[in-house]
Amino acid sequence: MTKLIIQGGRKLSGELEVTAAKNSYLPILAACLLCEEKIELHNYPYYSDTESMCEIITSLGGRIEKEGSVLTVDPSSLFSWKIESELASKVRSSIFTLGALLGRFKRAHVAYPGGCEIGARPIDIHLAGFRKLGVRVEEKHGYIYCNAEKMHPASIMLDFPSVGATESLIMASVNLEGQTRILNAAREPEIVDLQDFLNAMGADVRGAGSSEIIISGVKKLRGCSFTPIADRIIAGTYIIATAMCGGDVLLNGAKAEHLRALIDKIDKSACMIEVKNDKIRVKSDARPIAVGKMETSVYPGLPTDLQAQLLALATISEGSSMIVENVFESRFKHVPELIKMGADVHVKDRVAFVRGVKHLYGASVSGMDLRGTASLVLAGLVADGYTMISNVHHIDRGYKNIEIELSKLGADIKRIDD
Ligand code: UD1
Repeated sequence: MTKLIIQGGRKLSGELEVTAAKNSYLPILAACLLCEEKIELHNYPYYSDTESMCEIITSLGGRIEKEGSVLTVDPSSLFSWKIESELASKVRSSIFTLGALLGRFKRAHVAYPGGCEIGARPIDIHLAGFRKLGVRVEEKHGYIYCNAEKMHPASIMLDFPSVGATESLIMASVNLEGQTRILNAAREPEIVDLQDFLNAMGADVRGAGSSEIIISGVKKLRGCSFTPIADRIIAGTYIIATAMCGGDVLLNGAKAEHLRALIDKIDKSACMIEVKNDKIRVKSDARPIAVGKMETSVYPGLPTDLQAQLLALATISEGSSMIVENVFESRFKHVPELIKMGADVHVKDRVAFVRGVKHLYGASVSGMDLRGTASLVLAGLVADGYTMISNVHHIDRGYKNIEIELSKLGADIKRIDD
């Protein structure tokens, strides 16, 4: 089994390029299915989730070529609109292909992606939206069968600004004659990126980044070349790592405007942040100060994908913190592992109460989900002694070679295969 071994106690210093956003790449890869010409995507990050999405495209008959960081998708030879459960369960974002396949074939049979490590993750908002567009949706034998022969534009009010549902519905409507409106849409930067990508292929999507998105259907999309945005969650993870370990780190490519809610918190924790163009510099040489109450919410609020890392920061900060997880129901699985490392945390329902301790100590811990495993890495970087993290496949879903990146900053971290 692969493990990460960390000897804590090193300050971080140096420069890193922030790799492309997983949460942009996944819907963009799905959106490639809408087109019949070659698409060139840049800064391909090789996360295991994006690799699984490439596998899905290949299973549908698409061709994928990778040359360094350039990924070429040729969806002209697509012959299938069915995704089997073995593939669908590998990456939850397989659900994005529903909207794209409906746009391309008017039909889609996709195995239900199922729950995941952070809670039930229903897809009712996606399906209610499809039904509003006139799609016949049937759920049986673990599959979602969609038939879009009678599809028509509509105004869809989402019950909750779900990122995935907003993206699925945009993709389903780009080829639909007439105007579709999505109200109470999610406003995450990755949705703006999807809009920019679709428009680069000739679609007409407006309003992403606000809560009303208008899609005017076009007949055909064309191939294009596109560079997805940098990963704000990875940038946020390294910002928090520097706040915890101390040091001086420059992150290239990261957009501070995508991280406003995090930067506001970190500014209060005895850490200095400087922003210049697409560069964020983080400097810290004192024990972090607890920032009090933190609540995750939809963008532009504090991202749920940074909750675990912020909780790790709170464990060694001076003072007490209260962290409220408002987005996902079951997202504190990292807490028992952090407690093994000496953290003082109590969880009640969706709230974690943290009393900062001066030192964490190394322990043998296990990753439970993607961001939770990142929080264990951060805890290991500051802990006294050695930390051994198992189940690191979780972190590989959304960070490419985290041990190499952190070693560049001076951390003592290695990957070993037992
Ligand atoms: C996306 C991100 C994920 C991030 C999340 C919230 C990708 C690939 N993943 O996930 O990293 O943590 O946004 O910012 O972009 N919900 C329903 N019914 C639905 C859909 C969602 O009840 O049909 C609920 C979910 O259970 C959850 C909340 O809505 O409680 C937010 O989910 P959503 O915004 O859809 O997240 P994802 O798109 O799955």
